[in-house]
Amino acid sequence: MSIMKVLLEDTISVSSFLLCTAALFIVLLFKSSTKCSRYKFPPGPKPWPLIGNLNILNLKFPQNTMCKLAEQYGAVFTFHMGRKKYVIVTGYEAVKEALVTQADDFGERGLPASKKLNFNGKGIIFAGGESWKTMRRFALSTLRDFGMGRSTMEDRIIEEAQQLLEVFAQYQGKPFNPTININSAVSNIICMLVFGQRFQYDDPQFLRLQELLRETFRLSSSPMTQLYDALPIPMFLVGDRLKAMKIHAEARCYYTKVYQQRKAEHDRNDVRSFIDRFIVRQNKEQDNPNTFFDDQNMLLSISNLFAAGTETTSTTLRWGLLFMMKYPHIQEKVQAEIENVVGRERPPRTDDRKRMPYVDAVVHEIQRFGNIVPTNLLHETKVDTTFRGYHIPKGTPVIPLLTSVLFDKTQWQMPHEFNPGHFLDAEGQFVKRDAFMPFSAGRRVCVGESLAKMELFLFFTILLQRFTFQPPPGVQPQDLDISPSPGVTTSPKRYEFCAIKR
Ligand code: HEM
Repeated sequence: MSIMKVLLEDTISVSSFLLCTAALFIVLLFKSSTKCSRYKFPPGPKPWPLIGNLNILNLKFPQNTMCKLAEQYGAVFTFHMGRKKYVIVTGYEAVKEALVTQADDFGERGLPASKKLNFNGKGIIFAGGESWKTMRRFALSTLRDFGMGRSTMEDRIIEEAQQLLEVFAQYQGKPFNPTININSAVSNIICMLVFGQRFQYDDPQFLRLQELLRETFRLSSSPMTQLYDALPIPMFLVGDRLKAMKIHAEARCYYTKVYQQRKAEHDRNDVRSFIDRFIVRQNKEQDNPNTFFDDQNMLLSISNLFAAGTETTSTTLRWGLLFMMKYPHIQEKVQAEIENVVGRERPPRTDDRKRMPYVDAVVHEIQRFGNIVPTNLLHETKVDTTFRGYHIPKGTPVIPLLTSVLFDKTQWQMPHEFNPGHFLDAEGQFVKRDAFMPFSAGRRVCVGESLAKMELFLFFTILLQRFTFQPPPGVQPQDLDISPSPGVTTSPKRYEFCAIKR
């Protein structure tokens, strides 16, 4: 046999081998996306091999694609993220049915690949099973015991808001970007609860933590991270994932330092923060080999509370002040009601809220229209689940789409307009609306809901009692851009305002 012949035969056999492997790969791809025949998934757009429906997904604003698909396929549909089937639940009725009526079935957290790496099922937000239950219960009871939703907390928020007023006043009516100062004020509230201390607004460590947080939120929903979650892309190819891991490690280093410091100084008679309480519990359970009060749960719970407690509320406040600039007639009505009910001599308190229906309606409308967690966090079916005639296997990722609830045209008179009237009756009294669901609902409903509501009402009214917010000279209210920036939390685009003393 000549060398030429061997080479030729080898080449043919290698190429046939490659061809067969490719064919098998494609068959497997199709097979895996059409398996589970004993289940009945809802309808949805036809998937492509490997990429699924990613070709039609708006990676910057996935909620827009999903709302459009709901018009075509109905309130519940299937969407293929790469090879994985996601069930998307849309509209008030269906989301309520899934999260509240079938709370057990839909209450598990879905974990995209990028979150698995950093969180490993620990902490609160990206945790599951018994560990999650224990950490969530512990966080709720600790936050409540330290005053979440009560008057001790109210005093702290009022003090922090006074600090913010002073910082705003230093700009003497000149234009500035309020983002970092608002973040600092809001973050200090959760820092007092979690670390037992507040920070000066120019503390470099504090500023660095916030920078890390902003970057984490930006990266966790970047188009590259979404592709990484949907496709089996090797991690070293995804720069955003590597950056996110570096940031996570830096933040963790800081939390570990604080934790060790608190542990060293630990005094059982001076328990004033989440960390202190955790240490007490850890000591109590040190002989229990099955305890969930381990260092990893500690660090990740701190990280979750710090992130969720800072970013969401400060983003909502920034939306609120932008809407007030954009709609000066609404700002005037808010200020008139504050003036009538509270006057100028003392700061507003939460007790005033029931006599301030217009302000209450405006704060609710800011949250509805701001829509800051548009896709919600990912859920997952806990067991094989029958829902609206479909049969969905255990472990299916589910998106209960909050945008579709907050803008549901069967629930809101003018969903795409900023209209405080959505929360007022004919007599101008405040009305609760069931479809007001910015904190989601059911088993996984936001842990910080009552704290966030208190913060939003107090910061907003205290700021508007003292200042009128106006666009920089030369910019008209109608020119202000109120379209969102993309992200897992949607924030307003960078803006500046003038805080004019009243
Ligand atoms: C305007 C402010 C806020 C909004 C709109 C908001 C919204 C949300 C949403 C939509 C979820 C996901 C719920 C789900 O998976 O169904 C969530 C979860 C969570 N939020 Fe908030 N949140 C806010 C403020 C806060 C604050 C101040 C804290 C801290 C005390 C906090 C802590 C958490 C935690 C720990 C979770 C995870 C709950 C779990 O998985 O069991 N949030 N939040």
